[in-house]
Amino acid sequence: MKQITQAAGLQQAVREAREKGLTIGLVPTMGALHEGHLSLIERAIGENDMVVVSLFVNPIQFNNKEDLEKYPRTLEADLRLIGTLEGAEAKVVAFAPTVEEMYPDGEPKEQYSFGPVEEVMEGPRRPGHFNGVAVVVRRLFDLSQPTRAYFGEKDYQQIAVIRALLEQIKYPIELVPCPIVRADDGLALSSRNMRLSPEARAIAPVINATLEQAAEMAEYEEVDDVKEWVLDTLATFHEINPQPNGLRFEPEYFEVVDARTLQPIADWSEAGDLGAVGCIAVWLDGVRLIDIVKF
Ligand code: PAJ
Repeated sequence: MKQITQAAGLQQAVREAREKGLTIGLVPTMGALHEGHLSLIERAIGENDMVVVSLFVNPIQFNNKEDLEKYPRTLEADLRLIGTLEGAEAKVVAFAPTVEEMYPDGEPKEQYSFGPVEEVMEGPRRPGHFNGVAVVVRRLFDLSQPTRAYFGEKDYQQIAVIRALLEQIKYPIELVPCPIVRADDGLALSSRNMRLSPEARAIAPVINATLEQAAEMAEYEEVDDVKEWVLDTLATFHEINPQPNGLRFEPEYFEVVDARTLQPIADWSEAGDLGAVGCIAVWLDGVRLIDIVKF
């Protein structure tokens, strides 16, 4: 496995690979790797001759300073984890630049506009977030010139934004959405799960369980009724199951949207070619968790 910290080094490795006609997979991450990230890297190894895994906590996508400061930085452990994957030794280039290396001219000024896909759910709640994601991902596209780029469906709206970015910049990169990896009890893996107290971690799987039940209800209930039931079930959970220390779920939103446009639908029949998806953000124990369910 190659480890690179400088943009020029990555560009050199990419140039050599391109000259040999090799395919390149890109897996952008912010490090603090878990099985969810590893599943993307594993898939990229299986589908490409070379795999660039970026590990970079991108400051410009955090709209909350404390969140940025608290973000775990575990590079040594991350590299060890990547090294356990079959084929990683031969194929992976781990790219872990500093902020100065990534943004040598200071804070980037680019302003993207992606229209409706960024105007819902996470968009208005995290101003500047998707622009920061688009800026860093484009930079990673430029440096690594991938054949394919891998993103997790856990961040469902992020995928729609990257799809819109690719349409704008017209790079011939195949976007590969990858399924959510979950803990045995159903909780979507996330680096934020570490911040949950044991009591919160114990009830966190209720989010996924509720969404799974919602998927069953969707077969015979209207969209609005399913939405209301999900929000209600989580918001009243602590009343039916008393929790210590005032622990409770505080849903921020649950939207049922078209899986491509991310626009809310009022009727199941409105969903287009990719179907409908339910996206949720819930506060638990001071931690903001997100998850999705496909209908
Ligand atoms: P990060 O949160 O580190 O996630 C990196 C990739 O791993 C994303 O595509 C994310 O959707 C995926 N991922 C996270 N948890 C997952 C899970 N449980 N199952 C499957 N995939 C999962 O997303 C980002 O970083 C950043 O915004 C980034 C794209 C790197 C730009 O800075």
